[in-house]
Amino acid sequence: MEVFREIQGLRHFLSAYKQQRKSIGFVPTMGALHQGHLELVRKSMSQNDITVCSIFVNPTQFNNPSDLEKYPRDVDADLAKLEKISCGVVFLPDVDEMYDKEIFVNIHFGYLENVMEGKFRPGHFKGVGLIVAKLFNVVLPSRAYFGTKDLQQLAIITQLCRELLFDIEIIPVQTVREPDGLAMSSRNELLSSSERPQATDLYKALLFAREKLIDKESVESVKKNVRDFFESDSAVELEYFEIVNTDDLQNISDIGEAKRVSLCLAGYLGKVRLIDNISLY
Ligand code: PAJ
Repeated sequence: MEVFREIQGLRHFLSAYKQQRKSIGFVPTMGALHQGHLELVRKSMSQNDITVCSIFVNPTQFNNPSDLEKYPRDVDADLAKLEKISCGVVFLPDVDEMYDKEIFVNIHFGYLENVMEGKFRPGHFKGVGLIVAKLFNVVLPSRAYFGTKDLQQLAIITQLCRELLFDIEIIPVQTVREPDGLAMSSRNELLSSSERPQATDLYKALLFAREKLIDKESVESVKKNVRDFFESDSAVELEYFEIVNTDDLQNISDIGEAKRVSLCLAGYLGKVRLIDNISLY
């Protein structure tokens, strides 16, 4: 496994693959790797000649400084996990390598950055868009892999590629869950042992809501039931629960014939912010 900390070395290494028209798969991450991340890497390895996984805790996407500080980091363990599954290349830049001292470029995503995660984490998606655009320009991948766990991020990156004409195929990868249903997340490490079992409430609520919608209960009533559940029966403090079109994240008020529908929520368990989503069908 090749490990690069500098852009120049990585570009030089990858140029040989480009010249031979070999496909490059790319998996951007912020580290503290779990099976969800590794699933993205495995998928990339199965579809490309070489896979690059980046590990970079991107400061510009944290709207809250203490969240950035608390973010779990364990590079040695991450490298061991990537080595074990035979990932080809790891890119481990530091902040000075990725950012100039001042940042002037500001990417807007319109509606997509103002709802759900964007509403509760102002500026988050500008930071995500900026770093992913930079990383794409360094790696120049043929395909890039993103988890549907971060559905809004996937929509933002799809828009970024479409508008900025990145010639990169974006491949979505299904959410990998713990045996009890909790979506794997680097942030799960921050849960205390008493909080950890309560974290399954997010997935339970999504499954409950999906069942009710399939039984033709109205969107309004399902939303109310979910909110009531979190208010009276759960330690999770709900931030939002939305039922949206999977592609453009517009709210759906009546399921009708809609085929691509996603149920999305976020909440705090203690100080840890968790998100999850499932599709209706
Ligand atoms: P991070 O949270 O480390 O996630 C990296 C990738 O792993 C994302 O595409 C995310 O959706 C995916 N992922 C996380 N948990 C998953 C799970 N349980 N199952 C499947 N995939 C999962 O997302 C980011 O980092 C950053 O915003 C980044 C894109 C790297 C830009 O900084």
